[in-house]
Amino acid sequence: MPQPPYTHLGGLRDVESFRRYQTQSRIEIPCDDKLISGEASPLAQPIHAGNKRIGNRIVAQPMEGWDGTAEGRPTELTFRRWERFGASGAKLIWGGEAVAVRHDGRANPSQLVINRHSREDLSRLRETLIASHKRATGSDADLLIGLQLTHSGRYSRPNAPDRPEPKILYHHPILDNRLNIPADYPVLSDQELREIINDFYQAAMVAAQAGFDFVDIKHCHGYLGHELLSAHTRDGDFGGSFENRTRFFREIAHAIHTASPTLAIGVRLSAFDTIPFRKDASAEQRGVPESTHGLIPFRWGFGLNVENPLEPDTDEPIKFLSLLRELSVQLVNISAGSPYYNPHIQRPASYPPSDGYSAPEDPLAGVARQMRITRELKQHCPDLLVVGSAYSYLQEFLPYVAQAAIREGWTDCVGLGRMLLAYPSLLLDVVEGRPLQRKSVCRTFSDCTTAPRNGLPSGCYPLDAHYKQSADGEQLKRLKAAKTK
Ligand SMILES: Cc1cc2nc3c(=O)[nH]c(=O)nc-3n(C[C@H](O)[C@H](O)[C@H](O)COP(=O)(O)O)c2cc1C
Ligand code: SF4
Repeated sequence: MPQPPYTHLGGLRDVESFRRYQTQSRIEIPCDDKLISGEASPLAQPIHAGNKRIGNRIVAQPMEGWDGTAEGRPTELTFRRWERFGASGAKLIWGGEAVAVRHDGRANPSQLVINRHSREDLSRLRETLIASHKRATGSDADLLIGLQLTHSGRYSRPNAPDRPEPKILYHHPILDNRLNIPADYPVLSDQELREIINDFYQAAMVAAQAGFDFVDIKHCHGYLGHELLSAHTRDGDFGGSFENRTRFFREIAHAIHTASPTLAIGVRLSAFDTIPFRKDASAEQRGVPESTHGLIPFRWGFGLNVENPLEPDTDEPIKFLSLLRELSVQLVNISAGSPYYNPHIQRPASYPPSDGYSAPEDPLAGVARQMRITRELKQHCPDLLVVGSAYSYLQEFLPYVAQAAIREGWTDCVGLGRMLLAYPSLLLDVVEGRPLQRKSVCRTFSDCTTAPRNGLPSGCYPLDAHYKQSADGEQLKRLKAAKTK
């Protein structure tokens, strides 16, 4: 695929060049000149969630691997991933990975699902993570571990990776076409949503029994919780007004707080959005927004300007965060959009996934947008513990930016996604004063996204030898073919 018209960060020699590039590109991101190790490091500062002390500002973001069994149980690869999350030194483990609260809400047939085996399986995953964390840092006293609970809604594919079985909340004028959803396809009824609320509650109880400190009621990336927030055109108890669109979350939170007051709740939120993007017809296959002709005001999104849906609008996200505060929810993880319909805003990358499009903007602008909006939300809700996302594109400049972002209050904690698959101990190495291993730095090749879209488990094929070795020749050929399409 032709190269995009911006500078790859890997080609910048040092922090000074990175700063110069930012100035030229008019992209504002905080950035330190030097890395700081030991107790003085902003990354090493403890923070509190309620009474619990969290030992540093490093967060392991949830990342599933498409490597569970058909029954939704973890495999060796799943245990290996959790072990590496623990070894990262992150003192806040945000969810491990998305675990479906019921079979028909799985995003793929290899996603973990809560069922009769789960209590024991989840305890073992958690214990594996704690053991590697203790080996890496010496203590788990200040470690907070959550489990991410999900229902995949519109993106449910529970039985075959190439067979969508969407559960929709309303008809979407653009996304329905993409998924071949006919006009008479049924929307989930209020009664079905009440059953799903109960599934979330039951799943949370299993997580509490398995020893987790908190559950994340996932509200991001186009899945059910996120789609509810944009259900403006839906009738009934869960659509229309802000109160109705947040009823799902309020009822889950109420049920959990009543039954298990010590189990904390977190929310991973797509706090802003833009309209779905597609490839254009050029050789570059550049991303372009779908037409919104006849669709303004745009009533099918959350956190976007209805008159110009390419622009974020934080009014409702701020209202939602205020609601979380009222409900005694302190943990918030800010993400954006969806990896299905606008991956460039959710997961900025140099190289697009096989079903994506070439970046329509400098990916650094995507990082800056998530950081700017996270800062704005933090300023409005200073007493929430806010985790920022989408830092991996920064590559070797990530620690310089992370330190400055924490010191200057752009976020409380820095979450690492893809970088953890490639180089789990990046930030721990900084805090402990070890040199960076440049060869291990994630270069946002997107294989970890492309692999599962082509029937392989997700992992860092370019940089983590374990994946290259464990995949067979046919699988690797398929991955290569998908990348060069
Ligand atoms: C392979 C893969 C799996 C992911 N799985 C999840 C998931 O289960 N839940 C979730 O909230 N986000 C998931 N994400 C999104 C990441 O948590 C993160 O938000 C995203 O990769 C951007 O952060 P980064 O720039 O550090 O990678 C996944 C991302 C990748 C690449
Ligand atoms: S495959 Fe590896 S290098 Fe590529 S984006 Fe994923 S983690 Fe980064």
